[in-house]
Amino acid sequence: MKTISLINYKGGVGKTTITANLGAQLARTGLRVLMVDLDPQTSLTFSFIPQDEWNQFEKTKTIKNWFDAHIAQDDGFDIASLLLTDLKVKALLGTGGRLSLISSHLNLINVDLDLAQDLGGGSDRTRSLNFLKIYGRLKLGLQSLKDQFDVVLIDCPPNFNIVTRTAIVASDYVLVPTKADYLSTIGFEGLAANIQRFKDDYNKRCLDWPEHGTKIDPQWLGIVFTMVNLRLGEPIRNQKGYVEAVISVVTRLAGKDIVFDEYVRENKTEHAVAPEEGIPVVLGSRQGETYRAVRQELVDLANAVKGRAGL
Ligand SMILES: Nc1ncnc2c1ncn2[C@@H]1O[C@H](COP(=O)(O)OP(=O)(O)OP(=O)(O)O)[C@@H](O)[C@H]1O
Ligand SMILES: [Mg+2]
Repeated sequence: MKTISLINYKGGVGKTTITANLGAQLARTGLRVLMVDLDPQTSLTFSFIPQDEWNQFEKTKTIKNWFDAHIAQDDGFDIASLLLTDLKVKALLGTGGRLSLISSHLNLINVDLDLAQDLGGGSDRTRSLNFLKIYGRLKLGLQSLKDQFDVVLIDCPPNFNIVTRTAIVASDYVLVPTKADYLSTIGFEGLAANIQRFKDDYNKRCLDWPEHGTKIDPQWLGIVFTMVNLRLGEPIRNQKGYVEAVISVVTRLAGKDIVFDEYVRENKTEHAVAPEEGIPVVLGSRQGETYRAVRQELVDLANAVKGRAGL
């Protein structure tokens, strides 16, 4: 099982849209896919489940229950009880593949505050053990599902709070959706520095307390450009400049060019209706050249992700 986190501090860059489409497409190619919605905005959840249906699960079947069980020191809680499998897309996936979801909750925002309290106080030893236990919480749960899934996609919130860091600990790879604009060229540098700092901190504590945690080394899966404006099949000129600027920053920081050649164009018509219908664009069946081109880009991206992650 490979775990991939989709992260960018910047909001609205297409993290959730890419998670939904990658999840659907990877499942269609026969993989057993789990999507985890780690964002209290619950956009991924509501892209697959109507809100009134989710209301039946909100107290008992969201990722918040997994963190709450930690806070309540309930060691018997089984994360498998949170899996939602009866999604509307199921009928479109063909045989072989599987798509499951662990939904999020608006109050996940409070979990960060509760966990922060547990991180402070006590002796050095207590603080370190709490640190490893809290940040390792998501990894612990996902490991128990490793025989059920080939790949886990974690849709992170646009921040670097505690819950987001639990995703870093759980991940083999980090995938960064980004726009081709000025602020995005700056954003990656901050993200890379914070991940490195957190990784060093986590690994130092693992070294001190080896029986309480294992070293982490999440790799960059890559950067994917989203909402790209095209003219005559090519990104428009001012975006091309930003694409090149991002490639140069990323290559310097990651030691190699990790930007995907595959990108996702801006298309409000297709992407705006998909969440409401509960079916990601890549699984749609609309007619027309533009739709086919948009869908093909998402298929190509999923294939590239499959290749890089060794799926
Ligand atoms: N390629 C695209 N073309 C046009 N609109 C898009 C595209 N991708 C996403 N959108 C729209 O842009 C908005 C933000 O996208 P999305 O929710 O995927 O971003 P996000 O990075 O997950 O945001 P947040 O940081 O708030 O979680 C949504 O309304 C979505 O429908
Ligand atoms: Mg999102």
